[in-house]
Amino acid sequence: MINIAPSILSADFGKLGPEVAEVTQGGADFIHIDVMDGHFVPNLTFGPLVMDAVKPYTTIPLDVHLMIDNPEQYIPAFAKAGASFITVHAEACTHLHRVVHMIKELGVKAGVAINPGTPVSAVTEVLEDLDMVLVMTVNPGFGGQAFIPRTLRKIKELRQLAGELQMPDLLIEVDGGITAETAPLVVNAGANVLVAGSAIFGKEDRAAAIAEIRNSCAK
Ligand code: DX5
Ligand code: ZN
Repeated sequence: MINIAPSILSADFGKLGPEVAEVTQGGADFIHIDVMDGHFVPNLTFGPLVMDAVKPYTTIPLDVHLMIDNPEQYIPAFAKAGASFITVHAEACTHLHRVVHMIKELGVKAGVAINPGTPVSAVTEVLEDLDMVLVMTVNPGFGGQAFIPRTLRKIKELRQLAGELQMPDLLIEVDGGITAETAPLVVNAGANVLVAGSAIFGKEDRAAAIAEIRNSCAK
């Protein structure tokens, strides 16, 4: 089962609600929400208030990707705003174990993200506590960047590790440069949550774009 998660970073912010409704009706599995603070990454987006405002436009899980320093400061607000998943960056957490447990205690599924330059070992000590690992397939901060092929070996390593730990349900998410061309590569490596921004919101027909990515993995 492959989950497609359109990233609203590439949506038209002037009509975010209808954009979210369109991809929901177009067959998306999760709505991916990219939160950036201008410190951890060199870009700024939105916070829990905006997420709260788009929530009525969808019925599928909200997948929050926190690209921010001190994520523990904002986790309760995103939980309250209705996040189904909250993912923090391993690179942004001095006390990663504590942060993961904070997310879980709020009744939210927990994810940890690793940048292209960060090894899988950055998550192994908390892996058994996680619902999801996010392998960044670009350096975070902007939509529309090119997929970094070397990240494929980390996806494979994680899927193998999840097998050894008897965690068949571990979600492995990929984010950045995912298209109908790169999707089969990441799925073959073991990913099952595919974030796509420009490959969905950059197209006129969003339902067709979602179907194209999904079908490319079935081959
Ligand atoms: C990058 C964000 C991504 C971004 C992906 O920092 O985390 O979610 O929206 O955009 P595309 O799919 O265009 O690479
Ligand atoms: Zn993201």
